[in-house]
Amino acid sequence: MRKPVIAANWKMHKNRDEALEYVESFLPLVRDIATVEIILAPPYTALESLSEALHGTNIRLCAQNVFFEEEGAFTGEISAAMLNNLNCTHVIVGHSERRQYFGETDETVNNRLIVALKHGLNPIFCIGETLAQREAGKTQEVVETQVRNGLKGFEASDIGQLIIAYEPVWAIGTGKTATTEQAQTVHAMIRALLGELYSEKISDIIRIQYGGSVKPSNAGELLASPDIDGALVGGAGLKPESFAEIVQAGR
Ligand code: PGA
Repeated sequence: MRKPVIAANWKMHKNRDEALEYVESFLPLVRDIATVEIILAPPYTALESLSEALHGTNIRLCAQNVFFEEEGAFTGEISAAMLNNLNCTHVIVGHSERRQYFGETDETVNNRLIVALKHGLNPIFCIGETLAQREAGKTQEVVETQVRNGLKGFEASDIGQLIIAYEPVWAIGTGKTATTEQAQTVHAMIRALLGELYSEKISDIIRIQYGGSVKPSNAGELLASPDIDGALVGGAGLKPESFAEIVQAGR
């Protein structure tokens, strides 16, 4: 049985004080939940405070990105070792906003996955098609290429800790959720591909989150699908009450 994994990606929202206020309200709402892996991904500037505030709780800390070099003259970048030092356990890699606005490619995503896994960070590896790609009937081809290229060079033994997030770009921040059936179809395809590329065991253990306008009203149905093992939540993860409701839906 795969444990559901539900993450809030705050993107470029909340300063340190707002992040701490959120955690103060959020913790009591989810304190007793042991059957869902709960993750918060604040901006870099709130990682240190949340590292302390979440210490000893059932909530894991996640960065929104990581650079693929170990250290050096890379102004503005953050290394995997720096994230380890703040007790981050997870990192988002290849979010569509990174691909769209910051020039990330399958190759740089692959490099980030390599460095994250090397440092024991569990990557949330994001993939998904645009509206134009879906309308052109290319969803399967696009998603398959992203998986194959992102995981290039990995062996089955490297990727047990990987989480995949299927996030159709047209559903992110638009209020348009993929139907449960649309999401389940792509998730099943990704799982079959993992079986083909690695093994049945890997396809069985890797968790695949859905992301794109997940909210309390649709989380239950999405999470009840056989191949949807969690959610990567943007907008609805910004309020402790609504994110807690989504976490409850995963129980
Ligand atoms: P959304 O964002 O929930 O606001 O659509 C999802 C994401 O970008 O991970």
